[in-house]
Amino acid sequence: MKTIIEPFRIKTVEPIYMSSREERARWIEEAYYNLFALDAERVLIDLLTDSGTAAMSSRQWAALMQGDESYAGSPSFDRFEEAVRRLMPFRFIIPTHQGRAAEKILFSIAGGPGKVIPSNTHFDTTRANIEFTGAEAVDLPIEEASYPELEHPFKGNMDVGRLEELIRRLGPERVPLCMLTVTNNSGGGQPVSMANIRAVSEVCHRYGVPLFLDACRFAENAYFIKLREPGYADRSVLEIVREMFSYADGCTMSAKKDGLANIGGWLALNDEAWAQQARTLLILTEGFPTYGGLAGRDLEAIAVGLEEVIDEDYLRYRIASTQYVGRHLIEAGVPIVRPVGGHAVYLDARAMLPHIPPLQYPGQALAVELYVHGGVRGCEIGTVMFGRQSDGSEKPARMDLVRLAIPRRVYTQSHMDYVIEVVVEVYERRHQLRGMRIVWEPPVLRHFTARFAYR
Ligand code: F0G
Repeated sequence: MKTIIEPFRIKTVEPIYMSSREERARWIEEAYYNLFALDAERVLIDLLTDSGTAAMSSRQWAALMQGDESYAGSPSFDRFEEAVRRLMPFRFIIPTHQGRAAEKILFSIAGGPGKVIPSNTHFDTTRANIEFTGAEAVDLPIEEASYPELEHPFKGNMDVGRLEELIRRLGPERVPLCMLTVTNNSGGGQPVSMANIRAVSEVCHRYGVPLFLDACRFAENAYFIKLREPGYADRSVLEIVREMFSYADGCTMSAKKDGLANIGGWLALNDEAWAQQARTLLILTEGFPTYGGLAGRDLEAIAVGLEEVIDEDYLRYRIASTQYVGRHLIEAGVPIVRPVGGHAVYLDARAMLPHIPPLQYPGQALAVELYVHGGVRGCEIGTVMFGRQSDGSEKPARMDLVRLAIPRRVYTQSHMDYVIEVVVEVYERRHQLRGMRIVWEPPVLRHFTARFAYR
């Protein structure tokens, strides 16, 4: 088989400043070893997130010029709505400025004290929006998801048995809806199978509980179904996407991922009463229902992005580039979460750095070293992010990972070869890495602003 090439050529370039190790060592010290505090221009390869970082196509840039900025009744909304409905045939489509705004509105309606909202794994903003209303967010991933080294084709699946047990135990009146995150970002970017979506939907509907997909990476999930699930190899991604959404009653979406846009999102649903309430809330914080916190030109970019993201040449390249990085790291012996997910490679810092205890933040130590050594910026997902408890104590997170999230259509294979070299070189010197301590932290969400020092 021939090399899977980037299915595009480059029309505009953005220069990267080729910093030296000495410069980076100084800059990260000035940033108190917090990668969120760095100027982005001081990063060589930025793998902090795949969200809002995609490169737009020439068709998207052209579509921006057609943006109609009318307060009400913009034709850009019509094009956006049609593009969304082609994939996700829900009755009501409500644009928001990004995914979490859709979550905020949905849970303001459905949440509240005493309510419990299950998911395979809630993303942090989803969990925070649920808990903010006084409701409880519960993660019910399959057992296999707890073992980073264990291979499973659909490690994002939900434990259907535990879901049914939860609904029975609480009674459906306490479960206003069930979520399913496709792909499961917090669980390593792992896909959910069609069989699992169907089974979750059956359980939900037996008890009258609506099912909502957190659809951020729906196209990547659909492509994994095509590659891995029996019976789907010859189905088009468009058909697979439509089938995925046919089992759901609504979705929240961040267009910053599989919308191939730099901003945007939506809430889509079938229930008319909820849609009415959602539009009222939308006007309070986002805007009128035909723009919802976005410019008309953003709606145009998303409409085109949704056509491009289900292109199978694009998806083949997209999934291949993530797998490529993962495969080379595995071959070099670097411990990573397996199998490799859709949008990111997750390095297992706890396994790589056994001499650094979790409360000395192995993930942070590794992320800092990747930056100093090669200018690669990843993101700690571990004890820094989750270790501080609401009672003020601190305990190790379930895992200490560093996520290398790959922006869509931004980097080439040689950029990825460079990333692999940087990770492998750091891995080879792993015994020299030192633990870290926090010298200052805010009361909540400490990972964004905490200050660190070496032990
Ligand atoms: N759901 C999932 C699964 C996500 O990954 C994100 C964002 C959101 C919801 C919220 O969407 O950012 O548009 O408000 N994830 C980004 C990330 C931030 O880096 O993984 P948003």
